[in-house]
Amino acid sequence: MNALREACKVAVQTLTGVDALIRPGVSTEEINRFVHEDTLRRGARPAPLNYHGFPKSVCTSINEVVCHGIPKAEDVLQPGDIINVDVTSILGGFHGDTSVTFYVGDPSPEAKHVTEVSRHSLQLGIAQVREGARLGDIGAAIQEFAEAQACSVVRAFVGHGIGRVFHEPPQVSHVGRAGSGMRLKAGMCFTIEPMINIGTHEVEVLDDDWTAVTLDGELSAQFEHTLVVTKKGCEVLTRRPGPLSRSDRFPGMFA
Ligand code: MF3
Ligand code: CO
Ligand code: CO
Repeated sequence: MNALREACKVAVQTLTGVDALIRPGVSTEEINRFVHEDTLRRGARPAPLNYHGFPKSVCTSINEVVCHGIPKAEDVLQPGDIINVDVTSILGGFHGDTSVTFYVGDPSPEAKHVTEVSRHSLQLGIAQVREGARLGDIGAAIQEFAEAQACSVVRAFVGHGIGRVFHEPPQVSHVGRAGSGMRLKAGMCFTIEPMINIGTHEVEVLDDDWTAVTLDGELSAQFEHTLVVTKKGCEVLTRRPGPLSRSDRFPGMFA
């Protein structure tokens, strides 16, 4: 348990370092280089690198990219972009997995909406977690809120069990029915990582076999935490110690 905690802490520290890097003109390859080097500096390894052939050390997903964006020197951040940076660190054999959507300059109303709905939907999902609750309670809370905010919830990718293995059972759907699905037990570790879209929930994977984009080209945003179930709730292992300057800019928008 402590080893998983430490892996999660390293992922948070690296993601916090990314926050300081986000500005117009920075390429996703520069973000990749920072994540790679910062992870090694902390005595950890970047889990994405060579994972099922993924070529880089972090996923960088801009605007209509839903997830698994591949960093590239040509992909340069523009004012008004939103970008999800998804960091997974391996330390002491355990994986810590966390992501945030950052604002590059000032967001459009749409970009702000989808990002804040995604941020809040993760919090609502987390609030369902406790021993005895069902997996479906998490998906239901996320889906109900996001759809009431005129957004859609991606079905094609899900949260996952995590520990010594990057992705393991259970699959944690971000849609569902309250009272359905597996019963949660104290000690279970998994991620919740809702991908929320402005338009259709449908996605398409590009010819690079990784980059998932919205089928309609509309914006998508995502936040991810790794957590462990407790009797009364959960411990968010990737909780950040303070706000991020390029992400936590609209506090309490849906609180
Ligand atoms: N970090 C992603 C997740 O949240 C998975 C990335 S797999 C990779 O599950 F190969 F694309 F890095
Ligand atoms: Co994950
Ligand atoms: Co992740």
